Amino acid sequence: MVEEKKAASLAGKISIRNVSKNFMDAKSTEVKALHNINLEIKAGEFITIIGPSGCGKSTLLRLVSGLDNPSNGELCIDGESITGPHFTRGFAFQNPTLFPWKDVWHNVATGLEARGTLKEHKADVDAYIELVGLTKFKNAFPRQLSGGMAQRVALARALVNHPKALLLDEPLGALDALTRMNMQDEILHIWNEQKMTLLFVTHDIDEAIYLGDRVVIMSVNPGQIQRIIEIDIPKPRRRNDDVFFQYKKLMLDELGVALD
Ligand SMILES: Nc1ncnc2c1ncn2[C@@H]1O[C@H](COP(=O)(O)OP(=O)(O)O)[C@@H](O)[C@H]1O
Ligand SMILES: [Mg+2]
Repeated sequence: MVEEKKAASLAGKISIRNVSKNFMDAKSTEVKALHNINLEIKAGEFITIIGPSGCGKSTLLRLVSGLDNPSNGELCIDGESITGPHFTRGFAFQNPTLFPWKDVWHNVATGLEARGTLKEHKADVDAYIELVGLTKFKNAFPRQLSGGMAQRVALARALVNHPKALLLDEPLGALDALTRMNMQDEILHIWNEQKMTLLFVTHDIDEAIYLGDRVVIMSVNPGQIQRIIEIDIPKPRRRNDDVFFQYKKLMLDELGVALD
């Protein structure tokens, strides 16, 4: 398995300062996808991000990944401005873009291959494929995979590079409830072992509370941070105890969802 690999990643401290991102919609009206976002993320912190559709969660992750630039403000990792993608910031986005001509094994190996370090890390590729439960499918091509399997390939592809920061955009959204809970525990396990900084977008309140050191709640129009809730429960957490339920109630209130 992957336990012996823990030394590789060193967590990154992420600073998001006065960040805004505007887009033009189809009618050439400006959309404030993100408006004045400020967030200091400690090295090794596990941040979950939740909020209604369109509040800018994916946009924020894309900015941290460096795939996109802010309209205003600055994003830094360990004091250095983020100006483009880098393998030390691994990501797995909502709709994983796997290379259709590569099988699962070679999709996961992409980053190592690009940096010329695949030869010495072949066992890592196998280990992460095993970790996400896809050993039987390592020679399968993306068109042969379900949405949930493709998401797990994207996760393994990011992890194999031992990123300082891992950016996951609803990575478990396509999984059934049981697999999802198992994967949440796997992600916690990986985070414990490798101590990377984690930004995890989810739609699921339970998932946000179960995983996050802090939960960032966002609101829409413009996309901004509504509230940050520190989850003061030691990990591993229990999904069904009273304190957990108190946090859930708080979050439902904050998100404007009535609890019967
Ligand atoms: N590339 C883009 N071009 C135009 N508008 C975009 C683009 N990306 C996102 N948006 C808009 O920005 C807003 C935030 O989108 P997004 O970050 O995907 O939200 P979320 O992930 O929270 O659902 C939405 O109104 C969306 O339509
Ligand atoms: Mg999104």
